[in-house]
Amino acid sequence: MRKKVSFLGAGNVGASAAMYLAELDLADIVLIDVLEDMTKGKALDMAEASPVLRFNCRFTNDFNDIKGSDIIVVTAGIPRKPGMSRDDLLFTNQDIIGSLIKKVAPLAPDAILIMVTNPLDAMCHVAHEASGFPKNRIIGMAGVLDSSRFAAFIAMELNVSVENIQAFVLGGHGDTMVPLPRFTSVAGIPVTRFINNERLNAIIERTRNGGAEITNLLKTGSAYYAPASAIREMAEAILKDKKKIMPCSAYLEGEYGFQNLFVGVPVKLGSNGVEQIIEIELTESEKAELKKSADSVQSLVAAMKGRS
Ligand code: NAI
Ligand code: 2OP
Repeated sequence: MRKKVSFLGAGNVGASAAMYLAELDLADIVLIDVLEDMTKGKALDMAEASPVLRFNCRFTNDFNDIKGSDIIVVTAGIPRKPGMSRDDLLFTNQDIIGSLIKKVAPLAPDAILIMVTNPLDAMCHVAHEASGFPKNRIIGMAGVLDSSRFAAFIAMELNVSVENIQAFVLGGHGDTMVPLPRFTSVAGIPVTRFINNERLNAIIERTRNGGAEITNLLKTGSAYYAPASAIREMAEAILKDKKKIMPCSAYLEGEYGFQNLFVGVPVKLGSNGVEQIIEIELTESEKAELKKSADSVQSLVAAMKGRS
């Protein structure tokens, strides 16, 4: 039986991720957006690329085709513009995601949700509540993107292959995210052996501002190629049951000292979604940074609750 991945939101991130995933030929694709003709056009364009790129997946655009999806990737909503933080999107995207997830959950009750819409960790909470899905089937995409940015900047700094870099960023997807040099290596050698503290701190700061840097350059929206690649990485791990460890936003129930909160931590991704939350020993200062980041997610969750 062919697998199915639905994309709610076929804007910059959703459509790019759909195309990247199509190239892997692992699943049929359902592309949904309120802009129906635009979505049909993008799906047709992707299908017309398939003979050249040699993939066989089928594309559809009917809302009812979401039925039976293995994965639903949620990028619907508004992105930030220059000067806006991810948190400025909170209430608009809370309304969009809440009503959308209530509509799709009954159609695909066994699906795994990959949440992308910002503010990411807060939107995971909205999806959790609106879907009623178990915690292992709601996963937020952020850590893979943030770690990829951190890795890209380290590779640029050292003029080495990106393939040599193993980088790790935890915490919420916001300005308080927590890049972890202690778990970051170059060909297996600790990054601190290659880059001094001052430069490393500058790279960490650039990573934290990675989304804003792109938004300021694009002027009309936010990043999409790197976010779409991160979505592909997560979807592939689930579809192939890879049991691959990567940083994702997951629902914590005591792990790392947090209760009932979505925050970015290392997880094992496989066909059951989040199959394990990996707890690593953190230093006191790393713990304090993670707490600060988790507190900022918590304050968004409280603000959303305060509305209703
Ligand atoms: P975009 O504006 O290009 O696409 C969003 C799409 O959602 C639009 O096509 C819009 O028509 C659609 N949409 C709005 N309401 C909808 C509804 N009710 N049903 C279906 N579709 C609906 O934005 P982009 O760049 O694709 O970003 C999407 C979201 O992802 C934003 O919130 C952005 O901040 C977030 N994002 C998150 C990242 C992460 O690391 N978690 C990385 C990059 C983007
Ligand atoms: C990013 O980090 C906007 O969250 C998005 O690029």
